Amino acid sequence: MTTIRYCTREDFGPVFGLLRQLWPDMELDRGALENMYHGNLGCDSQRYFCAVNAGEVVGFCALSTRRSLFGPSTLAYVDELVVEESRRGQGIGGMLLDRAREIALEAGCSRLELDSAIHRERAHRFYEKRGLKLTGMLFRWEL
Ligand SMILES: CC(C)(COP(=O)(O)OP(=O)(O)OC[C@H]1O[C@@H](n2cnc3c(N)ncnc32)[C@H](O)[C@@H]1OP(=O)(O)O)[C@@H](O)C(=O)NCCC(=O)NCCS
Repeated sequence: MTTIRYCTREDFGPVFGLLRQLWPDMELDRGALENMYHGNLGCDSQRYFCAVNAGEVVGFCALSTRRSLFGPSTLAYVDELVVEESRRGQGIGGMLLDRAREIALEAGCSRLELDSAIHRERAHRFYEKRGLKLTGMLFRWEL
């Protein structure tokens, strides 16, 4: 059975493994990520939670919240969502997204958003199938 729970310090190793699957072409700075992960644990505006099956972390989601003039409201943002490669297509991503929605509602958010790279076509279908609407584009400057 798969369950969703908040992440702990000890989860960093498997979470890092999942982030490597999320960004396979990027060189990840494990130390910097670990510092940020530990620093954000327990923070109200950044929640990390994971899917666990038979004691193994098989999915991860990072959700942040911020106040926005658009609305005006509190906005929830899915920063990262990833499921262990061999476990995809089994409903785990859907469970994590449902939990993100619940946490956002509990935090008083009136919207939940995320961005997704153009090449992630399967993820786009996953979001659209769950009722998220495509409403914009993401522009970026690398600084
Ligand atoms: C997108 C992702 C989080 C969905 O999680 P999941 O556990 O595979 O999703 P679920 O099992 O709840 O739902 C399956 C749906 O996800 C979609 N999907 C996306 N990538 C998939 C994959 N590699 N394998 C199977 N389904 C995938 C399909 O549309 C599928 O729809 P279906 O049920 O009609 O077949 C997961 O596939 C993943 O980690 N992908 C790689 C990382 C990524 O793209 N993350 C999103 C960044 S914006």
